[in-house]
Amino acid sequence: MPRFLLPPRLLVDQNAKFFKIPKYVPAKLHPVSESPPRFACLSEAGAYLTGRHNKMGQHVKIESEIPLLEEILSKWRKDLQNEYLGYRNHVYRVIHFCLAIRKCTAQEQDKIIIAGAFHDIGIWTNNTMDYIPPSIHLAGEYLRSKNIENWSNEIKLMISEHHKIRLYKDESYQLVELFRKGDLIDVSLGLFTFGIPKEFIKNVKAKFPNENFHKNIGKRMASWMIKHPLIPAPMVKW
Ligand SMILES: [Fe+2]
Repeated sequence: MPRFLLPPRLLVDQNAKFFKIPKYVPAKLHPVSESPPRFACLSEAGAYLTGRHNKMGQHVKIESEIPLLEEILSKWRKDLQNEYLGYRNHVYRVIHFCLAIRKCTAQEQDKIIIAGAFHDIGIWTNNTMDYIPPSIHLAGEYLRSKNIENWSNEIKLMISEHHKIRLYKDESYQLVELFRKGDLIDVSLGLFTFGIPKEFIKNVKAKFPNENFHKNIGKRMASWMIKHPLIPAPMVKW
């Protein structure tokens, strides 16, 4: 009887009507098959993040450690060096803001966490502010390695559109706009809230301190703009 990477309950999740049903992945393909299924763990962790209510922020318990996120990010620790903690905390804040804006299924949470882990990673792996292409590339490699390529289109859009200035309106990929908003709340230092109570934002920030994330990105942006005055913000889309 094979064990599966994705728990069976996800395969019959009626809330996941916008997404393709994920493929079964035999545990033998999992690099650490002795460990519990990664996504099962993650989804259980996600259950802490999503409760029964859907009032802004009130249904979300602030989760200090998400195993899947830690596992993905830890691979890039050397690339990020002393900016690792800043990026890690930024991703945690974005995830919590997304889940506070609206209740998500366990599968949606997994997608938000994967997109979150990779969405800015190209800044460090490729030492560039034109970081969307390398971030998408690395996310794609990850999804392929886990045999969940059927999530690629959506996660690619979540990354490529996360600095879109206008709303992302394609309702067949609702997580794209949700992720754009979650990132904007953090990038704007809480100027945008999208209805999340300021108290919740304050608590998330306290749990995941900035650790010079904005300062370091600001420095990198300034350096990029001097070298590339004709494309000062390649990650931004209209
Ligand atoms: Fe970001």
